[in-house]
Amino acid sequence: DWNSGNVIAEQIERIREQVGDARVISALSGGVDSAVSTALVHKAIGDQLTAVFVDHGLLRKGEREQVEKDYVESTGVRLITVDAADTFLGHLAGVTDPEEKRKIIGREFIRAFEKVQLDLVAEAKASGGAAVKFLVQGTLYPDVVESGGGAGTANIKSHHNVGGLPDDLDFELIEPLRALFKDEVRAIGRELGIPEAIVGRQPFPGPGLGIRIIGEVTADRLEILREADAIAREELTKAGLDQEIWQCPVVLLADVRSVGVQGDGRTYGHPIVLRPVSSEDAMTADWTRLPYDVLSKISNRITNGVRDVNRVVLDVTSKPPGTIEWE
Ligand code: XMP
Repeated sequence: DWNSGNVIAEQIERIREQVGDARVISALSGGVDSAVSTALVHKAIGDQLTAVFVDHGLLRKGEREQVEKDYVESTGVRLITVDAADTFLGHLAGVTDPEEKRKIIGREFIRAFEKVQLDLVAEAKASGGAAVKFLVQGTLYPDVVESGGGAGTANIKSHHNVGGLPDDLDFELIEPLRALFKDEVRAIGRELGIPEAIVGRQPFPGPGLGIRIIGEVTADRLEILREADAIAREELTKAGLDQEIWQCPVVLLADVRSVGVQGDGRTYGHPIVLRPVSSEDAMTADWTRLPYDVLSKISNRITNGVRDVNRVVLDVTSKPPGTIEWE
């Protein structure tokens, strides 16, 4: 009979046994899985754990504060934030191809994270303290199945560092969520006191807003999209639609312009696309029939309040044929 309290107690004991007095690193993404696995490991070993959060500049409004303030306050986790926005934007300059963007963002993320890992390893060595030996991963049961390992098999992803990484980064993995499904992970997160905004968060892609700007990613365009996205999210939450919607990408068509009339003149601005979808697992999806008054509210607020946007359009494509994201 499943009970989040029991799972937590069991995992704490296992983690303590596995880790001993070694030190542990964990990457926080802002998502549910890394937030819960990190909090669980922290509960077990306290400040032997250091969490790392890479701010790639492609986050949504308030997400960094949510991690740095709300998450840290509720869990007590020791956190290092890496300010990498300028680096990411520099590498993304001039890039418009979606797969190219993904490749760059993925590569830079690993670079930024590895740098902190190496610093922490060196720091531990210099201080003569316990070695940094472990890395936390928020692998869930469906991830395990998908990559071909059944329950109870040895760590299929352990030593995922093999090939190309410095020896100092050859960590063992701690994967406390390996036997769990998403809803169970959420229950554990709530039991651990993680803020609802993180525990209940809808899926959000790793490359963040970088793949929701159709065209080149720039600081200016990110600012526009961040505002529009925040408005859409706020109104959907206010309307009580978060459970009904799987996720709602908000997309800036940065290379498209259309004529509008705003205030006392003609404008030549960009469209924002709303892409609300209903889904079970993101493999297939249908567009969510949102109430007209909610759509209208979002449209009015965005066109009135977000600079350079003079049009809001609704994506009414199911998946297939359309993917959930536009890129
Ligand atoms: P698509 O667009 O393929 O998206 O229908 C399916 C689900 O995956 C998410 N997604 C990503 N997540 N990195 C991620 O971590 C990515 O590059 C990526 N691309 C899409 C998308 O948000 C949806 O939940």
